[in-house]
Amino acid sequence: MKIDGIPYRSVWVDSANGWQVRIIDQTKLPWSFEILRLSSAAEVAHAIRSMQVRGAPLIGAAAAYGVALAMRADSSTEALEQVAAMLAATRPTAVNLRWAIERMLTRLRNTRAADRVAAAYAEAQAIADEDVEQNAAIGRHGLKLIEAHARPGRKVNVLTHCNAGWLATVDWGTALSPVYAAHDAGIEVHVWVDETRPRNQGASLTAFELGKHGVAHTVIADNAGGHLMQHGEVDLCIVGADRVTAAGDAANKIGTYLKALAARDNDVPFWVAMPSSTIDWRLRDGVADIPIEQRAATELTTVTGRAMDGSVTTVRVVPSGSGAANPAFDVTPARLLSGFITERGTCEASDAGLRSLFPEAATPH
Ligand code: MRU
Repeated sequence: MKIDGIPYRSVWVDSANGWQVRIIDQTKLPWSFEILRLSSAAEVAHAIRSMQVRGAPLIGAAAAYGVALAMRADSSTEALEQVAAMLAATRPTAVNLRWAIERMLTRLRNTRAADRVAAAYAEAQAIADEDVEQNAAIGRHGLKLIEAHARPGRKVNVLTHCNAGWLATVDWGTALSPVYAAHDAGIEVHVWVDETRPRNQGASLTAFELGKHGVAHTVIADNAGGHLMQHGEVDLCIVGADRVTAAGDAANKIGTYLKALAARDNDVPFWVAMPSSTIDWRLRDGVADIPIEQRAATELTTVTGRAMDGSVTTVRVVPSGSGAANPAFDVTPARLLSGFITERGTCEASDAGLRSLFPEAATPH
C-alpha cells in the first residue's frame, strides 16, 4: 500500500544492507510516520510486546524475521530453540505467531547450522510474501460480498473493529482488503471505524490507512455500532481474527463479540476475514480454550493524543485509586458469524465449512 505515493509493506528487510529488519513504528501513528531498524531478535520481541508491530499476521512475519536475525548471531540448534521460545512468549492470543515460529523451526531444524542464516531469511521472506498473496485473495473473495450490497446512487456501509488493514498484516490487510478491492473497483464504499478502546487501533490506525488510500470513513465510539445497525446504517460488518478454532469460534480485539451480538439482533451480516495461518486446528471451544491476553491497566487509564499545541501527550482519564482491567481480546462464537473470508474463498463458520476449504488441515493434531 502507498503512503504519500510511496509503496510500503509493514515489515521488510533493509535493502541497503540486506539483513536488518525495518518496520513502521505503529505506536507513533497517526501523529508521525517513523521507520525503525531492528538488528536482533530481542529488538523484534520488544517491538511485538510494545505493539510497535501488531496485528496477528504481522507479528507472525516479524517473529520469522526475528529468528533470522538470531541465526546471524548464532546458528546453533540451541540458539534456534531458545529464540523460538522467547519470541513465542511475546503475545499469547494470535496463533499466527506460533504458526510462523513453528514453520521456521521445521525449516531450520532440517538445515545444517552453516546454511541456517540464508535459509532463515528465505523462509521469513516466503512467509511475508505468502501473507501478501493470501490477503490479496481475501480481498478478491470479499469484494463479492460488498458488491452484493451495491445499489446505484447508494454507498455500501461496512463496519469494522480494531485495525485489520495492511498495517496489521504484511500488506493489504484481512478485513480491509475487500474494502480496498471494492474501492479500487469503483464501488462507493464507506467504512464505520470503531475507535477500539483502549488502544484506539481503529481511530489511529484504521482511520490513517483508509485516509491514505482515499476510502470514505467515519470514526465512531465503540458503543455506536448497535444504534447504527438499528437504523439501517450498516450493510455488513467485516472484522479480522487473531485465532479461529476448528469449530469456527473467532478471537479478535475486545468488543468484537458485542458487535456480533448487535449484528445478529439486526440481521446484519457479520464476516470474519482471515488467512489460514489464523486457524488453530487443535482447538474447538474458543471461549474455553483460546488464551486471552491481559494487558497493562495503563492502556485503559490513560489516553494518548495530540494536544492543541501540536505535541503528542498522554493524559490520565480514570481517577487514580480506581482499579482497571484490560482483557485485550474476546471470542465470538461461530453461531454469531455469517462466515469466513479466506484466501481460498468464503465458507460457513463451522467444522464442515472450514474443512471444505482446507481438507488437508482438518485433522486436529
Ligand atoms: O492487539 P492488536 O492490535 O494486535 O489486535 C489486532 C486485532 O485484533 C486484529 O483485528 C487481528 O489481529 C486481525 S489482523 C489482520
